[in-house]
Amino acid sequence: MDSGELTHVRLTVNGTPREGRCVPRKLLVDFVREDLGLTGTHVGCEHGICGACTILVDGEAARSCLMLAVQADGAELTTVEGLAQGGALHPLQEAFREHHGLQCGFCTPGMLLTALDFLRVNPQPTEQEIREGISAVLCRCTGYHGIIKAVASAAPVLKKS
Ligand code: FES
Ligand code: FES
Repeated sequence: MDSGELTHVRLTVNGTPREGRCVPRKLLVDFVREDLGLTGTHVGCEHGICGACTILVDGEAARSCLMLAVQADGAELTTVEGLAQGGALHPLQEAFREHHGLQCGFCTPGMLLTALDFLRVNPQPTEQEIREGISAVLCRCTGYHGIIKAVASAAPVLKKS
């Protein structure tokens, strides 16, 4: 049980205002999972290596294990729960499904948010650029082949939208 003083954190998550109280040293990933109940964001290494915890903070991919929740006060977050809209998968999620871009799914939330940010910056990437763009997220299952195909096939769809 942590007995530190609690700090108020207010932010927007997937378009909805959210708030919570936590100790100042609480990691953002733990705040998202434990206080906001959004367990789609995964925790792997907690050291900024694996990328599993990647979310969008003010539109840019960030490792939520390397941030404190209090640092995100006032920010807009997007987590994997915010990708599907109206019961329909996001085009990038559809592409991952179609091209077998996931197996166990542990890396998938971080991979999706990383790829989304990558395609925002580079909407028409080469295969090599995709490889480099997603290299910050470790996948133990797929060998990356399906992930790269999925990102490539989603690129023109997202460019149009
Ligand atoms: S849990 Fe954040 S990078 Fe691994
Ligand atoms: S699908 Fe299992 S770690 Fe990537």
